[in-house]
Amino acid sequence: MTSREQIIQLFRQRLGDYISGREICSVLQISRAAVWKQVEQLRELGFEIEARRSRGYRLLESPDLLLSADISAELGTSLIGRKVHCTSEIASTNQLTQQLAVDGAPEGLVVLADAQTAGRGRMGRCWTSPAGVNVYCSILLRPPISPRQAPQLTFLTAVAAAETLNALYSLNARVKWPNDILVGGRKIAGLLNELSAETEQIHALVMGVGINVNMTAAQFPADLRYPATSVRIEMGAVQPRLPLVRLMLQRIDELYLEFLAQGFSPLRRRWEALFDLLDRQVEVDLGARIISGVVGGLEPDGALKLFLPDGSVERVLAGDVKPIGMQAKG
Ligand code: BTN
Repeated sequence: MTSREQIIQLFRQRLGDYISGREICSVLQISRAAVWKQVEQLRELGFEIEARRSRGYRLLESPDLLLSADISAELGTSLIGRKVHCTSEIASTNQLTQQLAVDGAPEGLVVLADAQTAGRGRMGRCWTSPAGVNVYCSILLRPPISPRQAPQLTFLTAVAAAETLNALYSLNARVKWPNDILVGGRKIAGLLNELSAETEQIHALVMGVGINVNMTAAQFPADLRYPATSVRIEMGAVQPRLPLVRLMLQRIDELYLEFLAQGFSPLRRRWEALFDLLDRQVEVDLGARIISGVVGGLEPDGALKLFLPDGSVERVLAGDVKPIGMQAKG
């Protein structure tokens, strides 16, 4: 734990009480000047800390920061979040998690950032990641499955994120194949799984989740392909990020253990319960060509089954799906 995390923990344990400078020095094993510096830095981050000459310091208000100690406290998971790494700004949480995976990081590692400077979206797009408002999270898995089955795990984060949004805010979040979360037809979260594998063995699967939590309409880029929304826009009020992150990690833990024990079927059923496009006419951008057809459901390997107008069946493994008639830019 860093000195900053230790001092926050101390303040939280003694909420409402003054803690003397001397006591903070002895718990953190740092000098008086270093304590003062930590307090100043915390104030810059938005912590409201009262200082009284004869009594010491007292925490009055905490900002909506994601700190590993807060996330880990009461997490109660068996695998996901055994190690939680939070950082203020980073290029991309997926990128850092991939690096840490190469360095031998354990399965279940969670990486969160307050801001991303090069957030990655699907198909080489950028993921807008301003500071302090959203959730940018990556989870490292090392599943004992063949790389061919890896796409199944995309559905895991989709179910976890949508169920979390529904449980906490009753948003009626729905999934869009393969990995968008929509509320009222607007994108509220995006998922990006990145795989490092040999022919028969997965080394690391990094599951990236980006959730628009407190972003305002003005913070969305003008050239979005799909209309976007955030929890704040839907709820009409700013929401704390910590309960959302904690519940989502708990769901991912549950779903992953279920996947390891029972395979894809239970996950597939949960995903289909959140899916709106069954039997709907859609257009699929495959990159090289665009096809249209009627959605027939999810195949056991995660492919989307599409009935084409000529009566043939197409198994779509990657592509951008949208219902025909939906307004999309770009
Ligand atoms: C998409 O819908 O295009 C996928 C967006 C995925 C964004 C998340 S934010 C956390 C993680 N780190 C990244 O660089 N990307 C994913």
